[in-house]
Amino acid sequence: MRKNIVVGNWKMNLQRKESLDLVGKVISLLENQDVEVVLAPSYTCLYKVNKMCADLSFIQTASQNISKNKKGAFTGEVSAEMIHSMGVKYTILGHSERREYFNESNQDLQMKVDLAISNDLDVIFCCGESLEHRDAGIHFDWIKSQIEESLFHLSEDEFSKIVIAYEPIWAIGTGVTASSPQAEEIHAFIRSVIFDKYGMNVSANCSVLYGGSCNPNNAKELFSNENIDGGLIGGASLDANSFVEIIKSF
Ligand code: PGA
Repeated sequence: MRKNIVVGNWKMNLQRKESLDLVGKVISLLENQDVEVVLAPSYTCLYKVNKMCADLSFIQTASQNISKNKKGAFTGEVSAEMIHSMGVKYTILGHSERREYFNESNQDLQMKVDLAISNDLDVIFCCGESLEHRDAGIHFDWIKSQIEESLFHLSEDEFSKIVIAYEPIWAIGTGVTASSPQAEEIHAFIRSVIFDKYGMNVSANCSVLYGGSCNPNNAKELFSNENIDGGLIGGASLDANSFVEIIKSF
């Protein structure tokens, strides 16, 4: 079901005490509301953060990744089943940092998507182009193939567990945000790609989030667009006041 969602992607930033302090502050600043808030701490704090949010229906948690393997001798990996067993609702998949630094391909992501869905995890699937792609005018095709190659084998029912996050790589952690028309153009395009494959019902119900230097100063304008249903927030999610201000931008 399409809804407004704001995700805090803490990446590899906070230690245990910092993580728990941040969750406590975020909870104290929020009241029951319509926007779904999702916190994605490191694996080491995920269990505890999830417990702290368990009684609050409007806050969920996410892992930042899962293994592409189901189970077994994969030292250092964490499986979809393990994440699900902690009561976590979502996993982020395909973040550009994972694609770039850990060589995750669209095919790897297809395997991860399948494992997430078969273990009852909803997926926040990241896609987005580099500046080179945009300058070469191939950004629409690039984003379309990311979505097609990792997601379009899913049934309609399975696709209802997907949230898309459009994150232009040139905007992530750079302080450069896509302008509101630039972001809306891509979001509308993503929805049309989903429409062409799955039809009106599925495309209208899919939440499409924007990520890339989203902050309290630009969130309101970005979120006011018809096809932007929220944000995937990195840097600004590490400060409770900034993060909550973004959430309250709806
Ligand atoms: P940023 O990161 O908000 O720091 O640009 C967004 C993300 O990588 O998800």
